[in-house]
Amino acid sequence: MNLYEIMMNRRSVRNFKDQTIPAEIINQLLDAANNAPSGGNIQPVSIILIQEKENRTILSEMVGNQPWVKNAPLSMIFCLDFNRVKRWAALNGTEFKGEQALAHFLISYADVMCAAQSVVLLAESLGLGSVYVGTIQSQMDEARERYAIPDFVLPLMILSLGYPKSIPRTISKLQPEVIVHHEQYQSRSDDEIQQAFHQKYGNFNIKAEEYLEKAFIEAVEADKQSGEGWTEWAVDQMKKMEIRNDAQFLFQFRYPTHLMVQMNAELIESFKNAGFDFFVEPES
Ligand SMILES: Cc1cc2nc3c(=O)[nH]c(=O)nc-3n(C[C@H](O)[C@H](O)[C@H](O)COP(=O)(O)O)c2cc1C
Repeated sequence: MNLYEIMMNRRSVRNFKDQTIPAEIINQLLDAANNAPSGGNIQPVSIILIQEKENRTILSEMVGNQPWVKNAPLSMIFCLDFNRVKRWAALNGTEFKGEQALAHFLISYADVMCAAQSVVLLAESLGLGSVYVGTIQSQMDEARERYAIPDFVLPLMILSLGYPKSIPRTISKLQPEVIVHHEQYQSRSDDEIQQAFHQKYGNFNIKAEEYLEKAFIEAVEADKQSGEGWTEWAVDQMKKMEIRNDAQFLFQFRYPTHLMVQMNAELIESFKNAGFDFFVEPES
């Protein structure tokens, strides 16, 4: 397969074989991460490898009992690391204040994800599967304590990797032309937007269990692996909440808008606990 085919075949994998990844493969994955593009080539990235069985279980519990984190032979915790850069700057008679500069933060989060996605693609080409687990962002304080992560370092993403036991069937995406704009942004009409998402999701009016297979594969897969009744719970909640379409499913049930906004306070607190504050008065 060429790279295009590999990318078109990639799916998030949540069902892994109990098979370790050889050290030389892991080293290649880490080389790929380290060789990724980075704004100014500053490389404010650190990666914590989790492989020990007990530690895999602890990490899985930390991120809301996602069983694939426990079952994957390797998880990489991708951190935005300003600690190393700050110390290097200080040792060389200058100052780096990325923790107060939104511009540094935005570029550096992109750096982190460039590194992570390089791992995803190389892993895929080597017959491995992977899944991002972003929920660590809600547990940053706990993760920083558990992994002895110092000030100015934020654990922002997990990538769990392993040899796939099964790969989800193709999931639906928007048509490429929906996300592409030529020369300038082309605003779509309401009808076009409805049509674009309809094409992606199809009819909502199918059996709830089938719907979840398509729209909430995490719940279905978690039930297969740990039988906690997520699917039943989700079907029940959807009925109670009278979810009528895909948008309501996403923004009333999965990511309730008011809760997402409420989470700001906790996230900002976690940032502060790690020494980040973008609202300080700039020195003149
Ligand atoms: C930033 C980010 C965070 C994600 N977090 C999770 C997660 O916490 N748990 C999970 O099972 N999948 C997670 N995923 C995987 C998405 O659910 C998956 O990419 C999406 O359903 C599209 O499927 P695909 O990767 O097969 O295209 C995450 C993906 C991204 C990019």
